[in-house]
Amino acid sequence: MNVGNTFPFRTASGFRPLKGLHIGHYGAVLRDVCALQYARQSCSFVFIADHHSRSTWKEKSDFLNTHKRTTELTRQLLAVGVNPEYSVIYRQSDVPEIFEFMWFLAGITSHGRLTRNPVLEESGEPTAGVYMYPLLMVADILSLRATHVVVGDDQKIHVESARDVAKRLRGVFGEDFLPVPEYHRPDPVLIRGLKGRDKMDGAMGNEIYLFGDEDMIKDKVAKIVTTSVSYGNPLPTEDSVLLSYAEAIGGEAARKVFSADFESSHFDYSDMKTKLLELFMDVVGPYREAHLKISPQDAEEILRCGGLRAREAVGNMIAEVRKHIGESF
Ligand code: TRP
Repeated sequence: MNVGNTFPFRTASGFRPLKGLHIGHYGAVLRDVCALQYARQSCSFVFIADHHSRSTWKEKSDFLNTHKRTTELTRQLLAVGVNPEYSVIYRQSDVPEIFEFMWFLAGITSHGRLTRNPVLEESGEPTAGVYMYPLLMVADILSLRATHVVVGDDQKIHVESARDVAKRLRGVFGEDFLPVPEYHRPDPVLIRGLKGRDKMDGAMGNEIYLFGDEDMIKDKVAKIVTTSVSYGNPLPTEDSVLLSYAEAIGGEAARKVFSADFESSHFDYSDMKTKLLELFMDVVGPYREAHLKISPQDAEEILRCGGLRAREAVGNMIAEVRKHIGESF
């Protein structure tokens, strides 16, 4: 079956505007996004999923920070190297057509698909927003005709839904309608939290922010869970959280260097934590400096331009849908 190789390479990745980028975002998604964006100009769509961050609310004040956080997250994305000359960076809510498309998808998406959502299982009395969360994500991906989705392992289940819905649509409208999106890696990475459990997540307080205060970063590094090993013995590399952070920050090369140090018996965990901090500052330091030079106004302007381009892409999809179902504008 043709699963989309005839469509131009295009990646989709989304970030909720919460407390900022952490090393999980960087290691699992952003390093790849930054590298992939040069594969072909305008092939990467990177967006701030502000609607996704509002799937549950109670008060007006729950909306208070989203705008500011979106601007700030954009500054951070730019600072780590998402390049607006090569990527389309936009705010999800600037593309309202996504909702028309989502509703179109709703009618062909099974209820069972939507219940395969870990957040739904965890929330006692989920709102319709939590329930629809995966569908909005599927709409994000399919409306762009993305061929690849750059996500961490925890989001895999939603990409499965996108693939499932894409196949159904192709069954109805033909294989030229849209590609079946793939994972950017067959095995997406999961960066765990400081205690080695769960995913790294701001809501759980188990994260190391790229742009956090230096003392806080030191404090978090000190809290990374380790095993107990007596001095002069090698440190176990298997399932090591510290090692996974070295890889998240510095890639495969850093993992190799750190693994060799672990196995050498010359270092204890406190040495390795110092080395991890050094690695962090070597890699992230330049991003932190770049961040200071990007103003909120610059970020807003980039979102505005990206929004126009994303609207065009999603608008094309909507036009196609209407053509197929026989409605004209
Ligand atoms: N749910 C994703 C997260 O929390 C964010 C997201 C929304 C996303 N829409 C997307 C990611 C589409 C990839 C593609 O991380």
